[in-house]
Amino acid sequence: MTGKIKVMSIFGTRPEAIKMAPVVMELMRHTDAIETRTLVTAQHREMLDQVLHLFRIVPDYDLNIMAEGQTLFDITSRAMHGINEVFLQERPDLVLVHGDTTTTFAGALAAYYHQIPVGHVEAGLRTHDIYSPFPEEMNRRLTGGIATLHFAPTSSSYENLRAEGVPDGRIFVTGNTVIDALHHTVREDYVLPEELSQVDFRNHRVLLVTTHRRENLGEPMRHVYRAIRDVIEQMEAVEVIFPVHRNPKVREIVREELGGLERVHLIDPLDYEPFANLMARVDIVLTDSGGIQEEAPSLGKPVLVLRDTTERPEAVAAGTVRLIGTDEQRVYSETMRLLTEPTAYTHMAEAVNPYGDGEAARRIIEAILYHAGRFPEPPDAFHSA
Ligand code: UD1
Ligand code: UDP
Repeated sequence: MTGKIKVMSIFGTRPEAIKMAPVVMELMRHTDAIETRTLVTAQHREMLDQVLHLFRIVPDYDLNIMAEGQTLFDITSRAMHGINEVFLQERPDLVLVHGDTTTTFAGALAAYYHQIPVGHVEAGLRTHDIYSPFPEEMNRRLTGGIATLHFAPTSSSYENLRAEGVPDGRIFVTGNTVIDALHHTVREDYVLPEELSQVDFRNHRVLLVTTHRRENLGEPMRHVYRAIRDVIEQMEAVEVIFPVHRNPKVREIVREELGGLERVHLIDPLDYEPFANLMARVDIVLTDSGGIQEEAPSLGKPVLVLRDTTERPEAVAAGTVRLIGTDEQRVYSETMRLLTEPTAYTHMAEAVNPYGDGEAARRIIEAILYHAGRFPEPPDAFHSA
């Protein structure tokens, strides 16, 4: 191929947007060799738009598919039909998708039906349990089965892909683009928004909580919230900041279990910039999020993961992340341990960052150019410190 390579990035949810923003910005810097197109499914709406705004990304195509109570079937079919229309018009040379959402899988499958090669950003993470996280583990595997280029964030994700028979030359260890995004966003002099002004960061220990996983909806979430309520009742000098996901199924249980409690701040999801800067100032993070498991360790924050499995073993091995599940007693005791045992806290609060050096997007674009015969040698691989 001699002309410009037409690369279309597809994403739809908040975490994909955060992690694809550095890639889109880097693609835009290569106008000599690359024609960039951006397609958002808008599987998320407000939570996506705030990221687009922050990184000043104006998508070329917006499928606007989000609906309240959307099912996996709704998302998959609406995204597939919309992407098909765009492919018929644009015929990209390469499609980039990110991670493990239903937008990811629909984007990869649509590209496959058009016989367009796929580059998978954040490839190779595995729990080896197809129902945990659900449906993300399968979305990631199926996307990996379709992809031609695999951008693995760490050497353990590289090993997972090699074990599945992906040829060495198709995998590039790049680091995770979430660290590129974090470098772009966290600043010491950042002033937190007004809605957090009542939080007493000086005299209280502050817990940051987020939950949204489909497999935790219902009773598991209820147990987690009850444990948090018990902690708050037990410890006076503790506050909880909980930016509640927009999923109505999450919001309802949160309101029932934690609504109206003193020192529990239930707020709307924060935009990425205030959220990332808030994470840098809290004491402990409780979450079932994937991305937060990668961000918080590099900010030196202990993370208690409200899940039974993780596809991100690196920070668990390093000791800053603990997998604690959703059992009420366990969530309570693990949180209390960090609040009452200074050595346990210090041990977990050591900053480690196995996930990237802020250069992942550069490596991804270099790998694309290398694969197209436009870059002289394979990009340098990321090695965690
Ligand atoms: C999705 C992804 C999950 C990812 C998560 C990040 C799938 C199957 N799930 O899960 O992998 O970890 O995003 O947050 O791809 N909503 C709004 N406004 C928004 C966003 C969501 O109102 O900006 C509400 C809508 O009612 C929507 C519901 O949240 O129907 C659920 O959204 P959905 O994308 O289906 O699931 P998530 O749990 O967000
Ligand atoms: N995040 C945010 N505002 C919030 C909560 C999270 O900007 O109120 C960011 C967070 O920093 C991380 C990403 O959203 O980069 C994680 O998204 P989420 O937990 O929804 O999805 P997951 O990573 O589990 O797929």
